[in-house]
Amino acid sequence: MAGHSTYVPSNGVMRWLDARLPLPRLVYDSFVAYPVPRNLNYAYTFGGILALFLVIQIATGVVLAMHYAASTELAFQSVERIMRDVNWGWLLRYMHANGASFFFIAVYCHIFRNLYYGSYKQPREVLWILGVVIFLLMMGTAFMGYVLPWGQMSFWGATVITGLFSPIPVVGPAIQTLLLGGFAVDNATLNRFFALHYLLPFMIAGVVILHVWALHVTGQTNPTGVEVKSSKDTVPFTPHATVKDGLAMIVFLAVFAYFVFYMPNFLGHPDNYVPANPLQTPAHIVPEWYFLPFYAMLRAITFDIGPIDSKLGGVLVMFGSIIILFFLPWLDTSRVRSTAFRPVYKIFFWIFVANAVFLGWLGSKPAEGIYPTLSLIGAIYYFAHFLIILPVLGLVETPRKLPNSISEAVLGPDRGIGTGTGKGAPAAPAASAPSQH
Ligand code: HEM
Repeated sequence: MAGHSTYVPSNGVMRWLDARLPLPRLVYDSFVAYPVPRNLNYAYTFGGILALFLVIQIATGVVLAMHYAASTELAFQSVERIMRDVNWGWLLRYMHANGASFFFIAVYCHIFRNLYYGSYKQPREVLWILGVVIFLLMMGTAFMGYVLPWGQMSFWGATVITGLFSPIPVVGPAIQTLLLGGFAVDNATLNRFFALHYLLPFMIAGVVILHVWALHVTGQTNPTGVEVKSSKDTVPFTPHATVKDGLAMIVFLAVFAYFVFYMPNFLGHPDNYVPANPLQTPAHIVPEWYFLPFYAMLRAITFDIGPIDSKLGGVLVMFGSIIILFFLPWLDTSRVRSTAFRPVYKIFFWIFVANAVFLGWLGSKPAEGIYPTLSLIGAIYYFAHFLIILPVLGLVETPRKLPNSISEAVLGPDRGIGTGTGKGAPAAPAASAPSQH
């Protein structure tokens, strides 16, 4: 993966294995000797945290599945039984439920870090696109998982979300029937959601492998956005990145543990402790917090746009808000990668973050009064960021002067390339983006 291998098997057994299945060599080259930019900050630790949470979700989920009953008659009670009678069941369930939230906290930090440092720009377009695929799979998994306890929010959330497909012309009703396994949310729906909720995390794991592979081909970015040019710009992954990732994981896990042990239901909705009742619609149907910005955009369109009725309009806006991310590498026209060197864009970046939080808040409000109008304004700004601000600003903004190299940025000009004393790792594999010096 990282250019030429420096792995030397330490004993006869490892030599034997190396000649047959060089797995230790792959691990050594990818996570020990692998050269990473010497100036990575803590914002670069979320990828590792995400990998950890994927493992936590799969491990707790598989054990929960041993005790869960996917039938509308039994699902709610089987979850209560897990909480009360299964050994450590309460811990497994609270870890899994809060783990989903923390997985999303980490993924949002990871995505915003990528947006800030322009990580999606060439040559990392495929890496970014694989990330968006992971994000979509995560959303599907979380949505179907929330249906499984068969509480009021499970049932009505599933009813709303599967209903989104019906206004799609021609194929919509067929897709909706396929998702439901019938004409309403019922036992068939619960069964297929359970099957898919079990399957999707393994698909995510597969795409993560491709994601990390693509990362090792292009190399990581760094806060300057200037590509690696010599061995002085890098340090070996172990111990440098390993220790930093390890510390970040411990801190993140400590906060996670606080939620699991002291406020396990804080991020959930109390209505989901009421068994699903198809005859009683809750006063206010809301999804989990991590879907709220998208939910606000869904409800922002309250009027017909030409032949597109309001319901279809909302669906198009919501799906469009994610689909647009696939095109981001080509919408951002700036030659400079890192926002640290883009004074004007930096302001727009933080407005974008504030707008996302604003949309999240709006998603938690009822779709009445001023809220749909505010959601519309937020949604318009969201799309304007990608379709107007990013393309135009890249052409008109004057960026700050970039350092000549990473080592110059870290050590100062007199200790840069050719004169430095930095203890770098073997030559880095990173392909140079021509626009980045
Ligand atoms: C299960 C979910 C994910 C895992 C396990 C994962 C893992 C990783 C890891 C280990 C890294 C390198 C360390 C770091 O930069 O933090 C990374 C980098 C990256 N990820 Fe992810 N990722 C996930 C989701 C995503 C998503 C949802 C996106 C975008 C929508 C994304 C886009 C990127 C990009 C562009 C980089 C390169 C960063 C750079 O070098 O500047 N990832 N990912």
